[in-house]
Amino acid sequence: MTINLGILISGRGSNMDAILGAIKSGRIKNTKPSVVISNKPDAAGLKIASEKYGVPAKVVPADGLKGWDYDQKVVAVLQAHGVTPQSGLVCLAGFMRIISPEFVRQYKMRILNIHPALLPSFPGLHAQKQALDYGVKVTGCTVHFVDEGVDSGPVILQKAVPVMEGDDEEALSARILEQEHQLYPEAVRLFCEGRIKVQGRRVLVT
Ligand code: GAR
Repeated sequence: MTINLGILISGRGSNMDAILGAIKSGRIKNTKPSVVISNKPDAAGLKIASEKYGVPAKVVPADGLKGWDYDQKVVAVLQAHGVTPQSGLVCLAGFMRIISPEFVRQYKMRILNIHPALLPSFPGLHAQKQALDYGVKVTGCTVHFVDEGVDSGPVILQKAVPVMEGDDEEALSARILEQEHQLYPEAVRLFCEGRIKVQGRRVLVT
């Protein structure tokens, strides 16, 4: 069965680009990129989605709406493009909003997120700066299922990235981002091949 994919972004969209590129090249099969949605009208990723990949790119502005009041507008656009809770997949790719419990419950275990740290270390904003400030020698990136907490759902894949002595936030972020672009398409591929099983907090790749 084809999985209809919706990707939510807020800005640059380089992870979205990596996922759409992997679909286009045939690395990820069984999925149709159905819609890209941004909460920001000026998100650079919107143009990449529509012009480079021909994927419908929609803006759902927040207009001060919070929680489910906002998310239900996003869900309406997802549903209109066939990204349903039964057979869809939603990827958060630099989507800088916290998803409401109602959205999470509707799309139970069908929403993925990428985070630029080895969770549960450094959740929330500015994860790379948090890692530098703490002084860790190794950080990385995590693809996980979205649950009702912040960056707290079951971990699907992680990749470690060393912190170098001369690193500033920009250099470290760039080194992590390179790995994000490998890791996220890989997680989407496994999901679309039906190879991910969740047992409590543990995610098994079969
Ligand atoms: C990525 O580094 C992603 O891990 C991070 O935002 C960036 C988005 O870049 N996400 C978070 O920090 C979520 N808490 P992109 O728009 O180029 O994919």
